[in-house]
Amino acid sequence: MTQLSGFHLSIDNILSTLPFDRLEEKAPMIQGVARQLERREGPGADFLGWLDLPLTMMGKGLARLEDHAEKARDDSEVIVVIGIGGSYLGAEAALAALADRCSGPEILFAGTHLSSTALKRLLDRVGDRDMRLCVISKSGTTLEPAISFRLFRELMVRRYGRDRAARRITAITDAEHGALKAMSDQEGYETFVIPDDVGGRFSVLTPVGLLPMAMAGLNVRTLLNGARAMREACTTVELADNPAHLYAAARSALYDEGFGIEVMSTFHPDLGPLQEWWKQLFGESEGKEGRGIFPASCRFTTDLHSMGQYLQDGRRELFETFLVVDSGAPELVVTADLAEEGGDDLNRDGLAYLVGRSLDDINGKAYQGTRAAHTEGGVPNMSLELEWLDEATLGGLFYFYEKAVAISGRLLGVNPFDQPGVEAYKREMFRLLGRP
Ligand code: PA5
Repeated sequence: MTQLSGFHLSIDNILSTLPFDRLEEKAPMIQGVARQLERREGPGADFLGWLDLPLTMMGKGLARLEDHAEKARDDSEVIVVIGIGGSYLGAEAALAALADRCSGPEILFAGTHLSSTALKRLLDRVGDRDMRLCVISKSGTTLEPAISFRLFRELMVRRYGRDRAARRITAITDAEHGALKAMSDQEGYETFVIPDDVGGRFSVLTPVGLLPMAMAGLNVRTLLNGARAMREACTTVELADNPAHLYAAARSALYDEGFGIEVMSTFHPDLGPLQEWWKQLFGESEGKEGRGIFPASCRFTTDLHSMGQYLQDGRRELFETFLVVDSGAPELVVTADLAEEGGDDLNRDGLAYLVGRSLDDINGKAYQGTRAAHTEGGVPNMSLELEWLDEATLGGLFYFYEKAVAISGRLLGVNPFDQPGVEAYKREMFRLLGRP
């Protein structure tokens, strides 16, 4: 329905559940919320800095970030990015989605859990390769990254000595406050700032996401330009032409009808981490005060062999959004079943009808077939189709989802920019740990 260069959101398969009028009824409210956001008003107004990041990040600081990334790429074989939640999911999503465009040092992610087995494995994996740390924490006190940072810092100091280790540690944190900022000042780490008015899950277009991406060789200027084009498209008044508004309207109307679970499905395993980023963005923004759509994800065709049954036939309270990418030139085709070169196709597995067809073509048919079956099975679905995936489309996608959840959360009547609920488990955990 909406078309932005290479980006197409189709809502056709929700129209048997919800006529377009029902979405259009949402338009005046959506316009009201959009105006509120533009004027920096409403709940969470102090955390709307992300709206302008595609413009503001293009300033002088970006050249320093790119230079720093270049230096790291030159002097390191492995870079360990330490952070959790909004402080790593965006970077991981970008590196996985654009894996074929990445080059240079291996990028590892640490600080994302408290498993000693997994962390030990990661420490060992670095081996004796030249390394750097990029530690990301707005508060500077989050337990998981703080513990990982201690252990990796110890390894660095043993290997390089205190001064040289400090020159190989980059901190991305608050401009003035917090333990990481204080330690950076004391040790002389190079630092980049997470703006005060940008929350963790909205920070992918700040150094939090951009520095690891640049360290992996991605073009962060192109990414910001893609986000800028989406920002522009998301100011369109006409509902059908504004992707973020249309997506928010569809979600909100489906929620009104009792569809409380959204499954983001993709046929591209490389988009798995992007689904995780999306789940945090939507789950943490909307799930509060007893309200919100639960964001779930499936990776097909893998999960068609596990979750497929439920999707097709389980409780009818979920809707689905397919995230589809045209993979471009086919990489692999199905070959004949030959016992020896030049022999006959023995067709022992019955695949002769597929010989010569590309895997991407077959994957595409799996998508179309799944979409038809799920529609038939009573799962209203949308499709977000990308004609290609590069830095520009990914930047656009990040911005699209951020704008959509801001609108969607405000339509629900919650503050999409806070996360009071995440404190509850921390209180219990720290009590059990005996934190003073
Ligand atoms: O979205 C959020 O605010 C969270 O996911 C945080 O990003 C996460 O808890 C990490 O916090 P910090 O950057 O302060 O270490």
